[in-house]
Amino acid sequence: MNARELKDKYVKFFESKDHQEIPSASLVPENDPTTLFISAGMHPLVPYLLGQPHPLGVRLVDVQKCVRTGDIDDVGDTYHHTFFEMLGNWSLGDYFKETMIPWSFEFLTKELGVDPSHLHVTVFAGDGDAPCDNDSAKIWQSVGIPENRIHFLPKEDNWWGPAGSTGPCGPDSEMFIDTQPELPEVEFKLGCKQARYIEIWNDVFMQYNKQADGSFQLLDKANVDTGFGVERNTAILSGFNDNYMSSIWQPIIKKIEELSGAKYSSPDKVENDVSDENLRKIFTNRSIRIIADHLRSAVFIIADGVEPSNKERGYVLRRLIRRAIRQGKLLGIDTNFTSQIAQAVIDNQDNYAGIYPELNDNLQKILTTLDSEESKFRKTLNNGLREIQKLIDRNKSVSGREAFTLYESFGFPVEMIQEELSKNNLTLDINEFNQARDEHIEKSRTLSAGKFKSGLADHSEIMVKYHTATHLLHTALRQVLGDHVQQSGSNITSERLRFDFSHPDKLSDDQIQQVQDIVNQQIKLAQPVSVASMKFTEAQASGALAFFGAKYPEVVTVYTVGAGDNFFSREVCTGPHVQNTSELGLFEIQKEESAGSGKRRIYAVLK
Ligand code: SER
Repeated sequence: MNARELKDKYVKFFESKDHQEIPSASLVPENDPTTLFISAGMHPLVPYLLGQPHPLGVRLVDVQKCVRTGDIDDVGDTYHHTFFEMLGNWSLGDYFKETMIPWSFEFLTKELGVDPSHLHVTVFAGDGDAPCDNDSAKIWQSVGIPENRIHFLPKEDNWWGPAGSTGPCGPDSEMFIDTQPELPEVEFKLGCKQARYIEIWNDVFMQYNKQADGSFQLLDKANVDTGFGVERNTAILSGFNDNYMSSIWQPIIKKIEELSGAKYSSPDKVENDVSDENLRKIFTNRSIRIIADHLRSAVFIIADGVEPSNKERGYVLRRLIRRAIRQGKLLGIDTNFTSQIAQAVIDNQDNYAGIYPELNDNLQKILTTLDSEESKFRKTLNNGLREIQKLIDRNKSVSGREAFTLYESFGFPVEMIQEELSKNNLTLDINEFNQARDEHIEKSRTLSAGKFKSGLADHSEIMVKYHTATHLLHTALRQVLGDHVQQSGSNITSERLRFDFSHPDKLSDDQIQQVQDIVNQQIKLAQPVSVASMKFTEAQASGALAFFGAKYPEVVTVYTVGAGDNFFSREVCTGPHVQNTSELGLFEIQKEESAGSGKRRIYAVLK
């Protein structure tokens, strides 16, 4: 089965059960400053899982683009990926386990043809926070899974979320497939290394909202959140034990083979074979997988508007591209090749055509971004090589700290420093290198505290207030400066808001004062904040601000500040927001500065 068929089957199955399909959200989270990328299907749905009504109702299904870079160093094996697609369906306070579990069983066995006797499932064993999930176990039994294939496991294994430190979460029930059913059954153990039982689907019963103090509060309505990984399941359902053998990856791998002359030959040979030939094969496979994985991620990340830089998302993107180039070099590719691989990713009709119009819409941008980033990096590598040679000529060595500086300032990969040294019969003091790196990481961690948390939005009261203040600020800026003002970025922490917008000149003190006064006046007027669902076209016609170029579902949520036709602000937005502006307190602009050409940035606080 190819990925396209799998995705279609999933969506159709849930549509036949009255679910509405929603478009994949952008990889760049909206209104969520705590995380760089969308990392799960439920991520864009957090406000709805917390109780806000969704404009399309209580049953949703989608294919969501996700990026997780926490395991980036593991990419190169048969199953880690930085970008992946997650299929998911949701009940927002509608059906629960008694419906979801039989549907999971039906979809797996009837639609996908999985032999029921090859299925194992896990349920939550219970602890001080929540009871043992006997209900799910009984439902699994009622559909035909015998007791000896139902495993009770603790929170580490059978609880999902919150993805950040607070938010929706709950016990889950995971489904596993026995990939070697012809062998006698062995003890059911979890862990990636144990490849016999592989997880294929996760039903999360989201009943709780984890609080900042660590306690679990029952949500008003119990939800279902499920996640079904496209990459892994496409491979398993096609009988591969290497994800990269599936139709998702093969066209990309073919292109890498064509450009490098290397050959992908999976599976990697048995571990104990240390012959040169086997080692070469393992390294070649690894390089090919990293190139394919990282450049596929880069394509999707660029298509969602990110550019390579030294900060945050841009830095993740830059790292992905550089790591791919480095692996290309190991395979002997010494001229620009990344845009050709990107083209192969986009041309993969089987998987992406028609589903992600942003790929074709941004085709030129994707190709030129990669190409120019690659040229820059190749220049960097050459400069770095010259630096290393200078150090070697002068000192007959390169210290761990010097190597770290090369790595930090030239972006020169440490493995390449090691290779250069070994060509000169020198070795790198890797402990000293690691120490310098750890010190650096510690420093930047303190600087960007909170920013790289993998978590979801912290919908704490103060963040919600800042979010509403952002809407007021947006409109106030348009009133004072003109309608050319458009939001180009927003970042909220519990201490302040930061707002980027298009405007050519520095704001005068007088303009800043006027903007601040308008916002404070709206707060004093105690304006109601209301929410409504409507067609996107209606929302625009009714004066709602929306991001130019963003992709919106047909029906959207619109937040309005102020009553009647003379409302103060209206924006298409997922929320959440306060109910009345009087909740905000006093608004104060603390700083105004440039945010790049044609853009300004404001920092403001609520007191
Ligand atoms: N949120 C769960 C996961 O990511 C189910 O969708 O696995």
